[in-house]
Amino acid sequence: MSLQKDITKQYGKRTGKEKLYNSDYSYFSEKERAVKIKELVKKIILINNNTTILEIGAGQGGNIPLLREMDFNDDNIFVNELLPERVMHIKNNYPTIKVYEGNALEIDFDRKFDCIFQSTVFTSVLNDDQRIALANKMWKLLKPGGIILWYDFIYNNPNNSDVKKVSVAEVKQLFSNATQISIEKVTLAPPIGRLVGKMYNLFNIPFLRSHILAVFQKQ
Ligand SMILES: C[S@@+](CC[C@H](N)C(=O)[O-])C[C@H]1O[C@@H](n2cnc3c(N)ncnc32)[C@H](O)[C@@H]1O
Repeated sequence: MSLQKDITKQYGKRTGKEKLYNSDYSYFSEKERAVKIKELVKKIILINNNTTILEIGAGQGGNIPLLREMDFNDDNIFVNELLPERVMHIKNNYPTIKVYEGNALEIDFDRKFDCIFQSTVFTSVLNDDQRIALANKMWKLLKPGGIILWYDFIYNNPNNSDVKKVSVAEVKQLFSNATQISIEKVTLAPPIGRLVGKMYNLFNIPFLRSHILAVFQKQ
């Protein structure tokens, strides 16, 4: 099955379940992620009026407010998404943001970006060769000195065979040409996080975290 068909099928199953994730857990984990992304990116690149970012697999555009808070101008924010209904949502809600509809692997312009961002896209791509192709595509779209910004989970979910972890070793291998690497564990694992609710910060120790936030810089 093609990557496009796989993703369409997987996300078709999820429709209607999104509300399950609106909770104290979402609030605290998203807040933590936003703070850490801002800190990490600002340590490595300077975001000015010309700094460009492309988010692949942007979903419904939920990260766009964060990119704006990070001081990316709307003119410099580009997003890509495969599923047409999600693209429509982005266009309706963020009309000033440029959207490239379709498979990120098929983006075919010469433009290069200062930052290429992926957040929980690779764990939806189950095939190893497709993961390698997608990572190579991201690398190709990056300017020299630019960064890959990565957020994804590193443990499997036994209740969901539609997603597959990307281990730290695998992600390092995917971007083995990077000159500078920074990797940090983030996000209290969902089963624990949903259980402890408002006590998120109390339980959020590295040992109990399920995701990594990483930056890979190209020379
Ligand atoms: C779990 S969602 C994450 C959405 C968003 N990045 C976020 O952090 O909220 C993964 C998204 O990646 C998209 N996706 C998966 N493979 C893709 C590909 N090859 N090209 C473009 N989008 C893709 C899916 O359609 C889905 O909307």
